[in-house]
Amino acid sequence: MLGIKATNGLSALIFSKSLRVSPCTNKQFDLTQIVNFVQVDAFKMQFLTGQAPMIIRLPFVISICFIVLFAYLGLSFLSGILIFVVTFATNFLLSRLQARLQKEFMRLQDSRVRSISEALANIKIIKMNVWTHVFQKLISERRALELAVLWRRMCVSQLLITNLYFFPQILQAVVFAFYVGFGNELRLDIAFTVIALMGLIKDPLRAVPLFMGQLIEFRASMRRIQDYLLIEEINYSIVTEARVDPQDSILIRDGSAFHYGASNADIASRSRELDELGSRRGPQTSQEQTMIQRSASFTSLYMPVSLNERKTDSTQKALTDFLSLKQIGLRVKRGQLVCVIGDVGSGKTSLLNCLTNNMLFTDSLFYQQNCHQTIEDIKDQLLENSKKEIPQFRSPVVLSESLALVQQNPWIQNKSIRDNILFGAAFDSVKYAEIIQICQLKKDFEELPAGDHTVIGDKSINLSSGQRAKISLSRAVYSNKECFLMDDPLGALEARVRHRIFKAVLLRKLADKTRVFVTQELAFLHHADAIVCLKDGAVAF
Ligand SMILES: Nc1ncnc2c1ncn2[C@@H]1O[C@H](COP(=O)(O)OP(=O)(O)OP(=O)(O)O)[C@@H](O)[C@H]1O
Ligand SMILES: [Mg+2]
Repeated sequence: MLGIKATNGLSALIFSKSLRVSPCTNKQFDLTQIVNFVQVDAFKMQFLTGQAPMIIRLPFVISICFIVLFAYLGLSFLSGILIFVVTFATNFLLSRLQARLQKEFMRLQDSRVRSISEALANIKIIKMNVWTHVFQKLISERRALELAVLWRRMCVSQLLITNLYFFPQILQAVVFAFYVGFGNELRLDIAFTVIALMGLIKDPLRAVPLFMGQLIEFRASMRRIQDYLLIEEINYSIVTEARVDPQDSILIRDGSAFHYGASNADIASRSRELDELGSRRGPQTSQEQTMIQRSASFTSLYMPVSLNERKTDSTQKALTDFLSLKQIGLRVKRGQLVCVIGDVGSGKTSLLNCLTNNMLFTDSLFYQQNCHQTIEDIKDQLLENSKKEIPQFRSPVVLSESLALVQQNPWIQNKSIRDNILFGAAFDSVKYAEIIQICQLKKDFEELPAGDHTVIGDKSINLSSGQRAKISLSRAVYSNKECFLMDDPLGALEARVRHRIFKAVLLRKLADKTRVFVTQELAFLHHADAIVCLKDGAVAF
């Protein structure tokens, strides 16, 4: 009971943690690993509580039996202790080897399953391009590697089982041989008492090495969960829901900068570095010394300037790449339509991400107080700075209305189209029919086998990207929120349909709502109350 409660508690803890991290705070653990924490690692808790009575009993049983056996057999029982030690050592080593092979086996199995899933998910494309043999070869190679490790693991398992039964069986024979060998007479009363006592310690003799192996696995599982539970969480103080000015709907304070946290490459190289150097920092040369100059412009504010005023292009570029939004500022009034335009990678999606607290904020002021040298140090400072709690009155993002988000890559659930649009809200036939009409979904429903009751398959493969975009837009409109963040929802649609939806939805249905609309279509811009043009993560105009 205790084990089940502990496992459930740990699973709940992992689940609640997963709600408090965002893609920028968690770069180490992917979804499969998190599922494994709950399904595999947390279950190891049950092992500890299940084995607890035996663990508590073991030392008493072993010590009492050893004392009595010494009393009966004297020094010849040392041979018995020797067998005990040999059994323990060999089984312990074999258990460790088995655990290592099991880990390797899991890794190889993962990689094979991943390639099989990839092949099955893209089977049409693979067949059309006649790539079948390439994937067949790849999967066969991975399977061969997996089988080789599986074979080795089975051999070690067999050895382990043999060992577990072999040594306890020879224990009595060896001890009696030594006893007689030392010139003692083996009387019946001694023989039967010793056999009875050895019967008592046979089980612990088998259990201790096994238990040690399980304990190692348990420790490794708890370590993995601990690492996950200790990762950085979303800084909730970045976004405040408050009403600063009754006219404002969205406010991003001028001069705010946002980034996506350390990259995977950074984390890998940093942990390698820490492994090599411990937590020691390398010495700083005077040439490397940098200082920050007080200035309003982005380059001088965010770029480290060397003492001799020279800075490398690579450092500058690395910093520019690191901060996805620089010196950004935005004020959207209630009911306004703000169009966001810009080149590919200019930061349009990032602008919406920072409003939904999916980016990390960094304060420009700390630059003026600190001197850093290398790009790694500056990044470290930025990351540290992003963790700081920001007082509510200084929050870089202030929202005063409820948000609906239409993502660039729509998220569609494995449910019917109607369920996807309602998204848990009550069904209102008039409202629903109107939304279907203005989002131009009527014709699509006629073509689908069960209309809006058609169940969307895994990864919504039975829908076109345009249909997915329209469903995602309908869901947002149905939610009836006050502020709409739309990340190019019409980009995948044909020009005629795009214009129709823009007029019906954005200009009429949502006319009194606040709309931040990312688009590539310049023809829409003259309807906008304000236009934000982004260039390299900064507002160009
Ligand atoms: N999750 C992320 N982690 C790290 N960097 C990211 C992430 N998402 C975007 N970036 C970086 O942020 C910058 C801006 O990307 P963003 O997706 O905001 O561009 P965009 O203007 O929306 O482009 P597009 O027109 O293709 O949608 C790019 O340099 C990109 O590499
Ligand atoms: Mg984008």
